[in-house]
Amino acid sequence: MFDSLSTLPPDPILGLISKFNADPREDKVDLGVGVYRNAQGRTPILDCVKQAETQLLNTEDTKAYIGPLGNAVFNQQMAELVLGDSHAELDRLALVQTPGGCGALRVAAELIKRASRTSSIWVSDPTWGNHVPLLGDAGVPIKQYPYYDFSTHTIRFEEMLACLEKVPANDLVLLHGCCHNPSGADLTREQWQAVADVAQRRGFVPFIDMAYQGFGEGVAEDAYGIRLMCEQLPEVLLALSCSKNFGLYRERVGAVAVLGASKAITTSHIASIVRGIYSMPPSHGAAIVANILSNDALRQVWFAEVDEMRNRIKAMRDQFVAAINNRGAEGRFDHIARQQGMFSFLGLGEREVAELADAYGVYMVGTSRISLAGLNHQNRDKFCDALMRVI
Ligand code: LMR
Repeated sequence: MFDSLSTLPPDPILGLISKFNADPREDKVDLGVGVYRNAQGRTPILDCVKQAETQLLNTEDTKAYIGPLGNAVFNQQMAELVLGDSHAELDRLALVQTPGGCGALRVAAELIKRASRTSSIWVSDPTWGNHVPLLGDAGVPIKQYPYYDFSTHTIRFEEMLACLEKVPANDLVLLHGCCHNPSGADLTREQWQAVADVAQRRGFVPFIDMAYQGFGEGVAEDAYGIRLMCEQLPEVLLALSCSKNFGLYRERVGAVAVLGASKAITTSHIASIVRGIYSMPPSHGAAIVANILSNDALRQVWFAEVDEMRNRIKAMRDQFVAAINNRGAEGRFDHIARQQGMFSFLGLGEREVAELADAYGVYMVGTSRISLAGLNHQNRDKFCDALMRVI
């Protein structure tokens, strides 16, 4: 039976890991997968994670099942982290631990299907490469709204709003909470308000993917759009990830959250969806996050570590732009200093991206999305020199 299947091409983002690893050049540069790296090019385990993990190993006394809803302390702490601990709607938010932000997106898609067979999800053009497989493969129709202008490197906000004005009630509009992946171009506070106003008028539901809280402007600042939407609209759907801001990538820690009519009804459906897909989430990573967020001292360590990661990426953005302009790029990449989070587009074609990999060992996604977190003082000049040669 399985003879009918043929080999698929590698995933456009994750496939870069094996390509990069297979390259024998010592000075190769990895700007591909969105994983934070420090100034030495390593992805360290955060200090707060190490401390919380040690505590956990000393105190954990069972490996019995945790149930489809996951860790209750984690769920409460994550709700407070994303909404703030005094948000008027905090008690109405149904939040459930999931295996990473991907798990959250898939559970959300299943919930959408249960609630409405006629709803579509509108994603930004462009959006993260795994949004469409995760949501579309669940069987929810996917549509696109205009978002990024590759010639001006800004948001096509007028066109985006005009498109949203036509989105029907009960469709969902997927927004990136902060640090838009792949473009790094985020909505301003006024633009969030304008989108909330259209959602109110049209009756569509904002579906906000928050994978980088703390990597844009700050932990609270990055939640501005989510908090606003939850204050002003009757229904909001959230997918949250702890991969980047807690550095817990492989532990798969995330949460799906719904603000809607009845927390009890929504939670019962999420529990039944989870039971039908993976039964329950893994315990370890969420227990670490719960330990960090419920302990004042560890929480402070975490805030400081998130600040450090954010500031390093911002510094790399500025230094890259200065270094490439010094080589005569004449402002072609200035947008990168204005954008935020891990990613930006260089604005290269596929041929140039392939040449960077083949001739210089510089790897990035085929769309010329780079992860600024992959740059450091050792590889910055090499990258800039290679880029200048290619363009
Ligand atoms: C990325 O966009 O590079 C990350 O979110 C990793 C992934 O799973 O695609």
